[in-house]
Amino acid sequence: MLKLAENLSRLGTETAFEVLARAAALEAQGQSIINLGIGQPDFKTPDHIVEAAIQALRDGHHGYTPANGILPLREAVAADLHRRHGVEVNPDHVVVQPGGKPTMFFAILMFGEPGAEIMYPDPGFPIYKSVIDYSGAKAVPIILREENGFAFSATEVLSQITAKTRLIILNSPANPTGGAVAKAEWDKLVEGLGAHPNVAILSDEIYSQMLYEGREHVSLLQYGDLRDRVIMLDGWSKTYAMTGWRLGYAVWPEALAERATRLAVNCHSCVNAPTQFAGIAALEGPQDAARDMVAAFDERRRVIVSELNQIAGFRCVDPGGAFYAFPNIEGTGFDARTLQDKLLTEAGVATVAGTSFGDYGEGYIRFSYANSVDNIRDAIARIKQCLQ
Ligand SMILES: Cc1ncc(COP(=O)(O)O)c(C=O)c1O
Repeated sequence: MLKLAENLSRLGTETAFEVLARAAALEAQGQSIINLGIGQPDFKTPDHIVEAAIQALRDGHHGYTPANGILPLREAVAADLHRRHGVEVNPDHVVVQPGGKPTMFFAILMFGEPGAEIMYPDPGFPIYKSVIDYSGAKAVPIILREENGFAFSATEVLSQITAKTRLIILNSPANPTGGAVAKAEWDKLVEGLGAHPNVAILSDEIYSQMLYEGREHVSLLQYGDLRDRVIMLDGWSKTYAMTGWRLGYAVWPEALAERATRLAVNCHSCVNAPTQFAGIAALEGPQDAARDMVAAFDERRRVIVSELNQIAGFRCVDPGGAFYAFPNIEGTGFDARTLQDKLLTEAGVATVAGTSFGDYGEGYIRFSYANSVDNIRDAIARIKQCLQ
């Protein structure tokens, strides 16, 4: 018998990948599947970004790079953050990673150990809790409620902080709910955090450019008093339709950037070189493709929310950001997992049960609207028929 480390048994997963595999298997058997389960844009990476990677390979950029990323990329990130959020960022505090996920992994491993507490959004991106459990820390849920548009309550977050709290993970705009937190709530939270100087914050801002109806993104980097304890995660995956390239970054507090780089050295050495050049082209090149994509998501958002609200037993609040709708499905009489399976096998519509995103996701199902309006309408018609 192989003897594995005990903490491995506590590592969770991201069920969206399982749904994807099951949907693909059903499709291979000839069933028609509309995929509203997958958390990635259905658009192509813009051509000028692809060309930059090809050019980089032709120019001989195929070796290792510095573990924290090539300087021109980190400078481009700093310039982009200045443009978008009006903040000064030292490129030395930017650590480029293969996607957004490694930042979570590293940040949680830096703070998590038995005896520590880490707070995370529930329903939320499942990897947060998975890695907190893996680290041995106690995972403390921040419950996101439908009646608040799935934004956290600053008062509630602050009231849950204890002497053992080391890290608070926040995500706006959010997966799986599409919730976007208003500035007043951030202000309240930041003010309250002044009384807890030993608590770090991981702000997952990967959907920062996907906001609707005039909402503006609030970055935690904009709060100067917190800069020595905020880890701000963002990246290229969603904004530039680059999920498979594996490119993300975080701005770390000065004291932690070197440690994050050290974890990168131990883990993956660096992000592959041509992808980093593609990342520069994405940030410095034309932004119209990214803007058009958000406009398309906005149109789909309106369609899917109105259509979901017409299904008997469904109730869907307006998602303020990202590309997810998270309707309450309690009125159907099914639990989330049963309904997810029923919709996949009987209606040929892939979705993800809310319980894949935490205990407080029961009663909800996630729809990704990274699909065409026609497919979305078709999927809703299938669901209506299936639930008749
Ligand atoms: C909230 C959130 N953060 C981070 C990520 C990870 O992004 P990446 O693919 O760049 O690792 C995702 C991906 O779905 C996400 O939804």
